[in-house]
Amino acid sequence: MATANRRSCVQYLLHLAQDNLDFRLPEIKALLALRGKPFRPCENFKEKCPFWCLEDLAEEDVRGVMARSVCTKSAFELWGHGRTHSELRTSLLNFPSENMSSFMHKDSTYRINVYTFNKTLEFTERIKRIDAMEYLPFKGTVSLKSPQHVFCLLEDYGTDPNNIPEHPEYIYFGRWIADGQRELIRSYSVKNRHFIGNTSMDAGLSFIMANHAKVKENDLVFDPFVGTGSLLVACSHFGAYVCGTDIDYNTIHGRGRSSRRNHKWRGPDENIRANLRQYGTEKMYLDVMVSDASKPVWRETALFDAIITDPPYGIRESTRRTGSHKDISKPADGLYVESHVPVSQAYHLSDIFTDLLNFSAHHLVMGGRLVYWLPVYWPEYCEEMVPLHPCLRLISNCEQMLSSHTSRRLITMEKIKEPEELDTLAHLADPRFRPYQGHNAFREKYFSGLNKRGSKEDHKSAVNGE
Ligand SMILES: C[S@@+](CC[C@H](N)C(=O)[O-])C[C@H]1O[C@@H](n2cnc3c(N)ncnc32)[C@H](O)[C@@H]1O
Repeated sequence: MATANRRSCVQYLLHLAQDNLDFRLPEIKALLALRGKPFRPCENFKEKCPFWCLEDLAEEDVRGVMARSVCTKSAFELWGHGRTHSELRTSLLNFPSENMSSFMHKDSTYRINVYTFNKTLEFTERIKRIDAMEYLPFKGTVSLKSPQHVFCLLEDYGTDPNNIPEHPEYIYFGRWIADGQRELIRSYSVKNRHFIGNTSMDAGLSFIMANHAKVKENDLVFDPFVGTGSLLVACSHFGAYVCGTDIDYNTIHGRGRSSRRNHKWRGPDENIRANLRQYGTEKMYLDVMVSDASKPVWRETALFDAIITDPPYGIRESTRRTGSHKDISKPADGLYVESHVPVSQAYHLSDIFTDLLNFSAHHLVMGGRLVYWLPVYWPEYCEEMVPLHPCLRLISNCEQMLSSHTSRRLITMEKIKEPEELDTLAHLADPRFRPYQGHNAFREKYFSGLNKRGSKEDHKSAVNGE
């Protein structure tokens, strides 16, 4: 019992990737929340630092988070830490020996790695670091190839590559527990994907979105602007059933011009279902259909565990919706004659987001999450621009820079109230109901900024989110 209590005081060290810094905290919080665990950082927590110390967790929680996290490289059971090697030694010698012993006995095999952040150490320096740890009571045999236990000495030399200190700012030593899912970024890269379009979402960001949305096994996930289904691919990897809609017939049916260099037309079977098949998750595919997100086509009920989407910004793809400039009145029976062909009209960004929030308020299950991208002209961005809805609580708002003057924000909201609970008129006056404020600024300033800079590269990186 005493051992169990002691182990519960163990701290865990996460080593995070130093990209997409804003997305890391909401990801880890969401993944812990999925396991019913709070995010409890140890003293001196610094969000931008590559190393986070967490407490009040069990090893299985850490393994569970690592099985999902795209922002984390590795996790360790923290055995000791300090600002100097001498502090580290004191800290390690204070670590309960009963917590160490099962990993150090004479029949065990082990290896010690040395990792340095923001500095490269010569091989001989690494060996010296390992030799200096002889005060630890390792009784097992070293095995470099297939050790039972891996330990790591991690030295943090700060985050400024132009000012690398001689000595590390902080040092950690711990037992390696698991790696995160960084490998998914490569194995799901859109470069090798069967069906892609001009705006296919980057694999890493798709997984981050699925994590922010707390997508889990057997969830039902919907993308109303599905495109080539990159977000469905990520959600299906985590075991969710997926479906989506898009206004574009060619995209939904995998027809028309190819986005691949040297390919004029899309080949047969270039569609979203084939993308899921490529990754072995076809059984999670429900369907996709041609539909305009501005028009209600769904039964009026809470259906989806998560809504994850990347709405059109009107830069690479047009923001259109069905409708007519002429006043075509709906026939009395509600059915248009067969010859009726709806024309399209502009779909302003502010309307897109108002519709998306309203749709989510109606069609998410209670506690379900909406995760979507909001484009902003960042010199004028302020938090008040982010649309709000009284049925949805804002969970996180993370920035990804796109170009010198535009960025997009990954917004996560959680359903906290049924729309029926709102008094319709009161809700329009509700300060928590706020439409998107930046619609004109984004498009106009995007293009005027582009013209001023005249940079094709800027545009390319903006739309690709690089
Ligand atoms: C940014 S793209 C989505 C890309 C997608 N995440 C992917 O990975 O391929 C936006 C999509 O919204 C679609 N769209 C534009 N207006 C729409 C509308 N009114 N209703 C539904 N889809 C619409 C476009 O055809 C486009 O495929």
